[in-house]
Amino acid sequence: MTTTTTGTPAATGAVGAARTRLEGLAKVTGAARYAGEIPFAELAHGWLVLSTIARGRIRAVESAPVLAMPGVLAVLHHGNAPRVDGDYTGPLGAPDPVLQVFQHDRVPYVGWPVALVVAETPEQAREAAEALVVRYDQEPHEAEFSAGHPDRYTPQGSDSPAETAKGDLAAALAASAVVVDARYTTPEEHHHPMEPHAAMARWEGGRLEIVDSNQGSGFVAQELAHLFSLDPASVRVRSEHVGGGFGSKATRPHQVLAAMAATVLQRPVRVVLTRRQMFSLVGYRSPTAQRVRLGADADGRLRAFAHHAESVTSTVREFVERSADMGRVMYDADAHHTLHQVVPLDVPTPSWMRAPGEAPGSFALESALDELAEKCGMDPIALRARNEPESGPVSGLPFSSRQLQACFREGARRFGWAERDPRPGRRRDGRWLLGTGTAASQFAARAAPSTAAVTAEADGDFTVRITAADIGTGARTALTLVAADALGVPPERIRMRIADSDFGPAMIAGGSMGTRSWSWAVMAAAGELREQLALGGVIPPQGITVRSDTTAAIAALAATERHAFGAQFAEVAVDVTSGEVRVRRMLGIFAAGRIVNPLTARSQFIGGMTWGLSMALHEEAVRDRASGATVGADLAGYHVAAHADVPAIEADWVDDPDESDPVGIKGIGEIGVVGGAAAIANAVWHATGVRHRDLPIRPDRVL
Ligand code: MOS
Repeated sequence: MTTTTTGTPAATGAVGAARTRLEGLAKVTGAARYAGEIPFAELAHGWLVLSTIARGRIRAVESAPVLAMPGVLAVLHHGNAPRVDGDYTGPLGAPDPVLQVFQHDRVPYVGWPVALVVAETPEQAREAAEALVVRYDQEPHEAEFSAGHPDRYTPQGSDSPAETAKGDLAAALAASAVVVDARYTTPEEHHHPMEPHAAMARWEGGRLEIVDSNQGSGFVAQELAHLFSLDPASVRVRSEHVGGGFGSKATRPHQVLAAMAATVLQRPVRVVLTRRQMFSLVGYRSPTAQRVRLGADADGRLRAFAHHAESVTSTVREFVERSADMGRVMYDADAHHTLHQVVPLDVPTPSWMRAPGEAPGSFALESALDELAEKCGMDPIALRARNEPESGPVSGLPFSSRQLQACFREGARRFGWAERDPRPGRRRDGRWLLGTGTAASQFAARAAPSTAAVTAEADGDFTVRITAADIGTGARTALTLVAADALGVPPERIRMRIADSDFGPAMIAGGSMGTRSWSWAVMAAAGELREQLALGGVIPPQGITVRSDTTAAIAALAATERHAFGAQFAEVAVDVTSGEVRVRRMLGIFAAGRIVNPLTARSQFIGGMTWGLSMALHEEAVRDRASGATVGADLAGYHVAAHADVPAIEADWVDDPDESDPVGIKGIGEIGVVGGAAAIANAVWHATGVRHRDLPIRPDRVL
């Protein structure tokens, strides 16, 4: 069948109209299948064995008894595993040493992979893995983080500087009428998507094929090609549905192990991580210790600003939780100082966890601003308005747009901020003390090169192919709306194909950059295709395909401070008899670029704000000094806010299209978390008159 197209169809206005997820029905009816549950012929199952010591060497892996157990096919470990390459620059730089699985006998932390038992069924693999005896030569370890740790150092090898400094901090503090000097801590936190990590690997037609749950199939394919010294074209990774990621679903040991075992056994192998294993294998947020010093004139104008942040890294790889970055964008002062330092410990390497840096950084910074407002006798919103910078405090670059005050104005109006008595401890409801608080949100709006292919099919529909990942954000639906408008057709005529590395290089779902970066590539290809179609002619049976690559367009972006902003408000009730804090309501108003799909965007903001609530009141991983391991490494021991903890949360936005972006997008994945915990902590102060500078605000800390 062939179709003749003529003329340019009208835009449909799909972008900006609320739309349910394309795959929503499949997800809620169970028809959508996830990486851990897709059947494959001849599938074998790998079960990981992790180290039980925090430092030392593996003396022996006693495989023989386990190999005699029912169904067991292999026990892979450092003594027999195939070699992998570790000397390369991958899509995210130098590879994480944990990806060089089973390459040596050293153990750098509890929960390091030491063996993989492969069997015919998951139950057999698990039973054998639990029976496997591994002997170690144990060495003394240190796994406890504390502020001012003697081993802390200033990292050098990062893409943005660990330290920025202008002006004379001591002099500016001395000249300030009002000074805040406060120390804050946030605990180790873990991102636990509902769907655990899972990967199936098999060799198919001379290619390594992976069916995975990840945030970017292209990046995983590139990493695996490097590790196994394969031509990138001979690795294919797919990840159709993903039950959450939050930074944890990068290339992790399980994909490497599945590929290794599939190679050794020459049959498909799947490795699924347990909830407990995720605590050491997929990254987490480092604990932080932060000191914020603010010096201001009596009218609240900042003279001195210093934010110093310490966090943990491992002994095998440097990771910096960039908590002090927030102040480089938010507030200026004559003397302005930011610093990151890390402490290397015998613990798993921390990694990106939703709003890395900004989440803990905003807790300290936006709490300190509230303390300054109190000391100045000023309204906290007025204090922030007085300190709106003209340009980037560190970069000196102009802001592409900065609608922070618009967010505060709209938020204050809707929250009823004007009726607030600024004095703490004044409102009471039975045994509950009531208070309200506010804080600012901010997250960088960036884009990364991506490619897309758009095909005009002979039947009149259009197919879009892009290695995007829908980790629950609604990206598949958002991209469909973007493509529909770009092609001038209703969304029903778009077939959206994502999450297959064969579709070409593209950005991961990360850094709040996914939908923006992919939309840009889709717009470019669709726009060119539409021009071709406007010339008229016959569409051949194979269709007409146009490919795009946004590398040059993104490199040409003007250097500006490009960010999304927001204002968060919270009302809390504090039980004076038990110390329990209940959040009664939250409101977030964001200026975060053009909103592609209001329905799913609101869900993302509310999800982020729920993280803020959970961070403020509940989440805390405790590391045992003696063993170096997480205590209670499961979702019973690590409490994440449950439905009963979460009140009515409202999120909305002000108009803020990004003028440099083809769709006007800025990115909304992370900003909802930022500032939420500070708004709640500030509300707890307002309720009780007591500052809480250590998270979470547990009942025992409140009493
Ligand atoms: Mo996210 S922490 O940018 O994957």
